[in-house]
Amino acid sequence: MTHYQKVREHLENHQYRWLVTGVAGFIGSNLLEALLRLGQKVVGLDNFSTGHRHNLAQVKALAGEEAWLNFHFIEGDIRVLDTCRDACESIDFILHEAALGSVPRSIDDPIRTNENNISGYLNMLVASRDANVKRFVYAASSSTYGDHPGLPKTESVIGQPLSPYAVTKYVNELYADVFARCYGAQSIGLRYFNVFGPRQDPNGAYAAVIPQWIVALIRNQVLRINGDGETSRDFCFVENVVQANLLAALVEDSEAVNQVYNVALNERTSLNQLYQMMQALLVEKFPHARDHRPEYGEFRRGDVRHSQADISKARKMLGFEPTHRLRQGLEQSMGWYINHLASR
Ligand SMILES: NC(=O)c1ccc[n+]([C@@H]2O[C@H](COP(=O)([O-])OP(=O)(O)OC[C@H]3O[C@@H](n4cnc5c(N)ncnc54)[C@H](O)[C@@H]3O)[C@@H](O)[C@H]2O)c1
Repeated sequence: MTHYQKVREHLENHQYRWLVTGVAGFIGSNLLEALLRLGQKVVGLDNFSTGHRHNLAQVKALAGEEAWLNFHFIEGDIRVLDTCRDACESIDFILHEAALGSVPRSIDDPIRTNENNISGYLNMLVASRDANVKRFVYAASSSTYGDHPGLPKTESVIGQPLSPYAVTKYVNELYADVFARCYGAQSIGLRYFNVFGPRQDPNGAYAAVIPQWIVALIRNQVLRINGDGETSRDFCFVENVVQANLLAALVEDSEAVNQVYNVALNERTSLNQLYQMMQALLVEKFPHARDHRPEYGEFRRGDVRHSQADISKARKMLGFEPTHRLRQGLEQSMGWYINHLASR
């Protein structure tokens, strides 16, 4: 039995109260689904700035009416301290996902990014501290590695941030650290690399590459690769992210707490390789995809050239063991993407 299986078994037999912020978003709604399936009680907080009601409706359909009774949703904003306090009441564990994602968005609008990702985050930390929450697990980011060229990325070696978004995610880590020192609060930061999977939004100017490309391939639309396509990333299926969150919330070793961890696969895939993989997976259902060709454009501001995570720290301290490699994750997501994106 893997460590993760043991943690899941523990959860099946012990019911806790969780707060998931950003619950109507991509990762938040996947966390909600996993927790409800494990019989947990969940409070969700979201202001629908980038999340969607249909994500919650999908989770309800997947988890079932009975599990849904364990969910309480608060429509609200983490920039309002009282809302954070209400949401934190009687909570055991917080999984803090609410933030404005996207490097380009932060370059276009650094003030709004700062308000949500730093002021909102600080409100959540304060509310969590005052409510005596057991542990605050938060979404950090691989963007914190900034311009440091070293590969693979190890948690202790970071460079200069390349975007306002990266600044906000690094400040989150600094605040978590200071709250541990000043108030004895317990937190764990998870530096997600490029996450993908069901319910990731394909729409809008700031959409992530995988859902955007799947839509383009299905609909035979123009697909633009920024740069020469040799930019690489460590793409991580969302179920691996769910695993990291549950392990981080429940880890008992005090040495493992008040730390940050990379969450990815320790694999490097170029955008060209990713494109070919997705094309091959779609050809059977969408034969026109065989003749589809990407267009190449400018490199994107604020983007790092290569990214690959060293995940040995998460393996050792949290017992993290990814269950899905890239291809498995894509295969598992394809059905959802086709059902939900093809007809829109
Ligand atoms: N998706 C990735 O590849 C990735 C990589 C690194 C880090 N992250 C981080 O993971 C977290 C979740 O990302 P995601 O991809 O699910 O994004 P998402 O946009 O799908 O989800 C974010 C959710 O937070 C909500 N939200 C934003 N501001 C809020 C506010 N002020 N008050 C209440 N709710 C608010 C949004 O409405 C949305 O539902 C974010 O913190 C993001 O920075 C994501």
